[in-house]
Amino acid sequence: MTTQQPRVYVTRKLTGDALGRLSVSARVAIWDGEDAPPYDVLAGEAAGSEALVTLLTDRIDAELLGGSPRLRVVANVATGYDNIDLDAATRLGIAVTNTPGILEETTADLAFALLLASARRVAEGDRLVRNGGWTSWSPTLLLGRDVHGATLGIVGLGKIGSAVARRALGFGMRVIYFSRRCHSATETELGVMLRPVNYRPLDELLSQSDFVSIHLPLTAETRGLIGRRELALMKPQAHLINTSRGPLVDQAALYEALAEGRLGGGGLDVYEEEPLPADSPLISLPNVVLTPHLGSATVVTRERMADVAVTDCLRALRGERPTNCLNPEVFAKAAVAV
Ligand code: GLV
Repeated sequence: MTTQQPRVYVTRKLTGDALGRLSVSARVAIWDGEDAPPYDVLAGEAAGSEALVTLLTDRIDAELLGGSPRLRVVANVATGYDNIDLDAATRLGIAVTNTPGILEETTADLAFALLLASARRVAEGDRLVRNGGWTSWSPTLLLGRDVHGATLGIVGLGKIGSAVARRALGFGMRVIYFSRRCHSATETELGVMLRPVNYRPLDELLSQSDFVSIHLPLTAETRGLIGRRELALMKPQAHLINTSRGPLVDQAALYEALAEGRLGGGGLDVYEEEPLPADSPLISLPNVVLTPHLGSATVVTRERMADVAVTDCLRALRGERPTNCLNPEVFAKAAVAV
């Protein structure tokens, strides 16, 4: 008797050879659009699959999960998993995996790139040169803020926040942080560089920092963390960098603060709604650098993320506990043979 291979639906073409590896052990179907599959398509595919390999743009809600009786695992090719209803998956015995420990340094690079670009008006300068507006060297042309010697407030000293702190110390910044947990080990590690990184309550951090960089996951508690009141606490001319998730920041309030010149600038990689709508008022502001959710977007990191997600997907289908399982309690349940 031959056992049919499990069906895996993959919501986008992935880089590297992970999908080739997956297809050795599973019947693989791939959405080949550049944009995410529409919800109805995804729900229909999920209904006939044992596994999904998803991205942060795919909404995996209770309804979709409930309508997918064969589904055993959702392998999210991302560290964040706010796109997935984890409680519903757990109730239904569906494993959910993510890809931690891979993209932290890469995302920290982008956060620092946005910080530098915002401080030194790199995107404005680029536009000026391209538009033919650069008529002469001028002592007052596009004056920015010094990064060295400035205070960076890191909101969330997890792996990405710590990686940003290390970069900042290398640039001669003073670093303070707010975190929901005590990070004395990280403090010690960073303190080895002889410049201690000190904890501050959030309000104090906001009022003492020249640059604020956000590195918390999106949860019910962190949604709207940086609202009108918090933005008003920031130093005049401070810069806000966000490479975490858009809904942590009240985007309308941020727009107002930037437009009224209360904040000096910003660097954003994430938005309340993605893609950022073409009519977003943020687009008209010169003093904010906007990138399209590129935190983990390097060749090596994206290949490694795909690899880890596929490895965990196959593990789950074999009934083994995946390395990065977000709800290991489901592994008491039956497995599909691979
Ligand atoms: C990217 O935003 C991720 O969570 O992996």
